[in-house]
Amino acid sequence: MVTTYKVYYSIVAKLLISFRRKWKSLYTKSTKKYNVASSGAVFHQVLRQIKPSSDQRRKIKAVSHKVLSLANRMARKYKGKAILAGSLTRDTWLPDKLEFDVFVCFPEKMKESQMEKAGLGIGAAIARKLKAESKVEYAEHPYTDITYEGVDIDVVPCYSVQSAEKIKSSVDRTPFHVQYIEKHLPTRLSDQVRLFKQFLKAAKIYGADAKYEGLSGYTCELLTIRYNGFQNLLKAISKWQAGEIIDLEEVYGKKNIGEVKKKFWNQPLVVIDPTDKNRNTAAALSMKNFFLLKKRVADFLKKPSVEFFLPPTPEPITEKELANLQSQRRTETVVVKFIPPKVVPDILWPQLRKFGERLQNILEETRYEFKVMNRGEFSDEKFIAAVVLELEVAHLPAVQKRIGPSIFAQKESKEFLDKYLQNPTFAGPYVEDGTWVVETPRQFLSAHDKLLDSLSKPLDVLQAKGIPDKIAERLVTGFEIISETEKILEEAKRNPDFGIYLKQFFQKVKLV
Ligand code: UTP
Ligand code: MN
Ligand code: MN
Repeated sequence: MVTTYKVYYSIVAKLLISFRRKWKSLYTKSTKKYNVASSGAVFHQVLRQIKPSSDQRRKIKAVSHKVLSLANRMARKYKGKAILAGSLTRDTWLPDKLEFDVFVCFPEKMKESQMEKAGLGIGAAIARKLKAESKVEYAEHPYTDITYEGVDIDVVPCYSVQSAEKIKSSVDRTPFHVQYIEKHLPTRLSDQVRLFKQFLKAAKIYGADAKYEGLSGYTCELLTIRYNGFQNLLKAISKWQAGEIIDLEEVYGKKNIGEVKKKFWNQPLVVIDPTDKNRNTAAALSMKNFFLLKKRVADFLKKPSVEFFLPPTPEPITEKELANLQSQRRTETVVVKFIPPKVVPDILWPQLRKFGERLQNILEETRYEFKVMNRGEFSDEKFIAAVVLELEVAHLPAVQKRIGPSIFAQKESKEFLDKYLQNPTFAGPYVEDGTWVVETPRQFLSAHDKLLDSLSKPLDVLQAKGIPDKIAERLVTGFEIISETEKILEEAKRNPDFGIYLKQFFQKVKLV
């Protein structure tokens, strides 16, 4: 009787447990489905806004055909050949850029100066034929940038070389990229690349240029190929570790990871270029941006939304916010503002960052004096460039204690005492803990005054201080140091982008 009861009991218990399991799995399945469906719905909604319209496609196709045939006709004279390159060839372009790339490939034996001249000549001749505006831009080599009926056309000269490992300059790799992507990126992945580019754009980390320190279009394409779609790519990114290595063609093999690590040491993400194993296509990505990408991906996977692709316009800092920040943090902010030098962004941004670093060094050159807690750089690349410094110590007392030599070091003591007997002191010389001490007036009581003095110098002095050339040349023509809160706020009101920048400067994105 008892045993029958036990058997019944265990059957009921088992049934209950299995029912619960089933219920649970049903529940988790449905939530999983819900998540995937909702990111899928987001992708769908985003693509509706970022896919080129048929009008835009028609337009860019017509213009590119025209430009390509013009370029080819003109290149023939040099035994050169023009090709389309970049995102137009793989249908991964975003309409808000409306740009395409034409590479004019010249024979390898042509002299570099002749090749550059021919390339620019062809660019200018195309612009003339189209009656379009054009300007010369500088990367490793000069190239022509034409604007025609709202379409941006890059005409870039390069060399035809045997393999991407035998290039003379980095643009010579591009024809190999075109071939590789043509072979490996199926059309069904085009929109997946668009989603990834737009996701990076929204986080301001699209582009391998010095300003963004992000990922190039080509790297986006390679990663989409590697993970066979955007959703999988996101999952992979969420698991990436600093120093991640992605080797699509497995040119290094699993055994040689150590070699790759050594070769690309200190780079947070290594995406081996399948056309050239000596190159990391993700080399421009900064460490900060690597973690920003991971954070955005993790947040998206947790709660997918269109805002990760098409974010609302950020708001400039308000008077109240700035006042609150200052009363909570009790720091002071100093802005060094000037007109940016007329150089390409790839020169401007590294120089501006270097300048910020120098300003911090100048303030901190004597220990236990001024102290910088945070610094950042802002520029619209046209009218304003600025370094923002948040100071832990921005003001110092009028008196400064100078510890001299030991009283037993007679020669040094005499020198020290002679020096201070000639200059007025607050107190001393007196003896403390076996050394001579004086209390003297301090030269600069505020970070503002110290910077003003250091930067109001002739060009050669500025350069000797390590201030980057183009910025030093600008400083001698004028600059402004702003340290009053109202004036900083005024600047933020006059220039809303600066106001937006300031807000982000204080509210750093949480990376974990
Ligand atoms: P683009 O900067 O025009 O990029 O460079 P893209 O791939 O066409 O992407 P979007 O849509 O315009 O933003 C054109 C080609 O030049 C080479 C690549 O081969 C790229 O496809 N390139 C450019 C690089 O390899 N690295 C770079 O940093 C920039
Ligand atoms: Mn392009
Ligand atoms: Mn381009």
